[in-house]
Amino acid sequence: IMLSLQKILLLHVLACLGRLTHVIAIIDGEKAPENSMQYMASVQNNKGQHVCGGFLITEDFVVSAANCDDSNPTYVVLGNHNLKNGNHQKIKIENKIIHENYQQIGQGNDIMLIELSEKVKLCHRVEIIQIPHAEINLKENQVCQVAGWGTTKTRGKSVDELRVVDVSVINQRVCEEQWHGLPANVTCAGGYETTKGFCQGDSGGPLVCHGFAVGVVSFNYKENCNYPNKPNVYTDISNYRRWIDEVLEKKKFPKTFFCVKHLK
Ligand SMILES: *[C@@H]1O[C@H](CO)[C@@H](O)[C@H](O)[C@H]1NC(C)=O
Repeated sequence: IMLSLQKILLLHVLACLGRLTHVIAIIDGEKAPENSMQYMASVQNNKGQHVCGGFLITEDFVVSAANCDDSNPTYVVLGNHNLKNGNHQKIKIENKIIHENYQQIGQGNDIMLIELSEKVKLCHRVEIIQIPHAEINLKENQVCQVAGWGTTKTRGKSVDELRVVDVSVINQRVCEEQWHGLPANVTCAGGYETTKGFCQGDSGGPLVCHGFAVGVVSFNYKENCNYPNKPNVYTDISNYRRWIDEVLEKKKFPKTFFCVKHLK
């Protein structure tokens, strides 16, 4: 989630300002504590490589970004922040439900539901995160978190240990001005007027505010994580609550085929 080049430059500047020790802890994302954010899922390809983030919302559904389907996800790994540690649940993806209006990244509706082939064991180290029940008003400058195994610098490598960073919600009008237009149903936080934000490989992960997953990591500016530049953009989950509920409902009551006896 942040980049070392940026960090070095910033440290240099800050050192000149004489405030080095004060700021150092918040420039970079930090390792997520093992007992936090246990709904985080690593979405992986058939080689077991991390390609995207996601988060568990029921025992058998993970939310991710529609753009993650480009990387042919095959497995979901839950239950350990360290992907190199074998002590986790690796579950095959049964089904991917991409929002029907998603066309391509940057054009909105960037959300995908991943159905797991088996129910995950909700025990230690695996939990569910709530999504908002209705539209919520995020306050400007409200501090939320984004987490992921994505790269820590532009065009870097994804990391083994989950990282998390605080980001502030950006006023919608300011965000639209910065981007010169935005797709509908998105939320902006981080990346702008701050060195903190997400990077490639974090797609699909949650924006977490007050313990709710309110956004899905969608896109940043030209895949460039040398912040500050333009705000980071998330799919606003509250706009897709109904869609999510509909998909889950269909699952609960699978279509049954009745045999009709033809009399006569
Ligand atoms: C935004 O979300 C609402 C549901 O809250 C939906 O009715 C609308 O079609 C969405 N807009 C676009 C452009 O997708």
